[in-house]
Amino acid sequence: ADAVRDRLRIAIQKSGRLGDPSRALLTACGLDWRESRDRLFCYGETLPVDLLLVRDDDIPGLLADGVCDLGIVGRNVLEEQAAEREQAGAPAVATELRALGFGGCRLDIAVPEDWDWQGPGQLRGCRIASSYPQLLRRWLAGEGIEAEVVMLSGSVEIAPRLGQADAVCDLVSSGATLAANQLKPVLTLLRSEAVLAGPVRPFTDARAGLMQTLLRRMDGVMRLRH
Ligand code: PRP
Ligand code: ZN
Ligand code: MG
Repeated sequence: ADAVRDRLRIAIQKSGRLGDPSRALLTACGLDWRESRDRLFCYGETLPVDLLLVRDDDIPGLLADGVCDLGIVGRNVLEEQAAEREQAGAPAVATELRALGFGGCRLDIAVPEDWDWQGPGQLRGCRIASSYPQLLRRWLAGEGIEAEVVMLSGSVEIAPRLGQADAVCDLVSSGATLAANQLKPVLTLLRSEAVLAGPVRPFTDARAGLMQTLLRRMDGVMRLRH
């Protein structure tokens, strides 16, 4: 059931790569909150827009459940949820409203440095570790490659050394994590950055106007940055 609310609730990453730039962007949009660094809920002062500080991976679920109205999250996380819902025959709930120009990274397949890479066909019959099983499965299916997907929620890059997988499919930003684990990127499945995610269906209460205001300000801030 859709609750009627007169305040807008935005979920952002509590800590990690997207947290500070997300907050900075919203501050540049004129929002502010009673300072409470360790609070998970920040009450909006200048506008009725509240912040929820969470794990990035939880943001699509919070949007799906209607607990949050908007979220700033990596496109990779949003796309993984969309693929998962599609796979389950569930309707899309969250969509990318704006690309935000920070938190750039790639979802790459990486293999041990000593592999003589010949192309995707080499992954046939391999075990590939990933935190993005849906995006990986969809790509494998598109390539007509049968491989085993090993779902890991973290420390994916260590899987080959532990004998848990032959290759990985994970986010690459600087490439330092891959290099430190003697892996090399060979293919890009998705180019990602932070995005503003919001509902597929428009709000019918006070949140509609608040979202308009926020989007207008955000577009203004983005124009100045570029
Ligand atoms: C990603 C990815 C790697 C690391 C790669 O994790 O899972 O661990 O970043 O970055 P690098 O190429 O600069 O070394 P992320 O920061 O998204 O954290 P999370 O997986 O805990 O959400
Ligand atoms: Zn994460
Ligand atoms: Mg990680």
